[in-house]
Amino acid sequence: MKNDVFLKACRREPVPYTPVWLMRQAGRYMKEYMDIRAKHSFLDMCRTPEIACEVTLQPVRRLNVDAAIIFADILLPLEGMGIELEFAKNEGPVINNPIRGAADIDAVRVIEPENDVWYLLEAIRMVKKELSGAVPLIGFSGAPFTLASYIIEGGGSKNYIHTKGLMYGEPRLWHRLMEKITEITRRYLNAQIEAGAEAVQIFDSWAGCLGPDDYREFVLPYTKKAIEGVKKGVPVINFSTNTGTYLDIVKEAGGDVVGVDWRVRLDKAWQIIGHDKAIQGNLDPVALFGPLGEMEKRTKAILDMAGGRLGHIFNLGHGIIVGTPVENVKALVDMVHTLSARGS
Ligand code: CP3
Repeated sequence: MKNDVFLKACRREPVPYTPVWLMRQAGRYMKEYMDIRAKHSFLDMCRTPEIACEVTLQPVRRLNVDAAIIFADILLPLEGMGIELEFAKNEGPVINNPIRGAADIDAVRVIEPENDVWYLLEAIRMVKKELSGAVPLIGFSGAPFTLASYIIEGGGSKNYIHTKGLMYGEPRLWHRLMEKITEITRRYLNAQIEAGAEAVQIFDSWAGCLGPDDYREFVLPYTKKAIEGVKKGVPVINFSTNTGTYLDIVKEAGGDVVGVDWRVRLDKAWQIIGHDKAIQGNLDPVALFGPLGEMEKRTKAILDMAGGRLGHIFNLGHGIIVGTPVENVKALVDMVHTLSARGS
């Protein structure tokens, strides 16, 4: 591996500078992406290995990031689970047959990745070949809760009324569904590792809609089990948002790296997570809109809070927002590299 700075940081080994990659580094803020997207739907892009491979590599070429993340989605397992997924124009994911009761839950199929998401695994193999060790490749999945919230609500949600309805009203059914999704997550991640992913991230993007006691009872056991099920020796990033008030519980789910959003100070978050774990984060994605001087000040503040300690991976607190100027994204990556250079 030519650049293993990211993997070293995951393992809290010494690095010459702080590695950086960005959630949603491939996407609609980039002209190269939009040129392809103009001709294909998002799901078709995911399901065509050559396109997924090309789009994965775009930010690596353009931005000089220290890791690639496979172009895919947390919702790709749905088809194999027997759940119909569409991306409606400008509306995000829409699920026509949401999972609401016992019969729906029993009908959910546990996927076989080599059959059900073969195109993703093929894309990973192609990316690995193209990268030929330039930077590591990250695979990913949704965490069981975030996946459950989509399939129960039928899409994105503001108040999670159906999800919490099942959780609070029918806890036995909730647990039955979460057991299944956890196994799906475990298989989805391990298949990506088998195909060549060198690290994986679990996105619990919506866990923060829960209070700490509900997170502990209804979510933690499953995220923990999914993480424990990942092939040993492969770094796992446990990412969530809006969980700053109970990071002490989130860290119990495990992971070599805990990803945090910008609603917490990185130094405080790291204290809670423990310095025996690596941390990823946590610039506010809106800071990328500029001005550049302000972005630099905030970037420096985060690096200062990390204090040169082993195991900081620079990232945003959540994904890049559509409309972000690509030159600012490039400037951020350069800034992190320059400001954090340790000298040798
Ligand atoms: O980081 C990367 O470059 C990899 C790409 C990636 C995508 N989705 C591509 C994508 C990753 C890591 C994801 C994960 C994902 N997908 C999450 C968790 C991450 C997070 O943001 O918290 C979630 C919740 C999803 C589900 C999903 N997929 C939603 C809600 C949407 C609509 C979002 C939107 O902005 O419209 C998607 C679509 C999606 N996934 C796009 C991309 C590039 C946009 C598709 C398009 O071109 O229209």
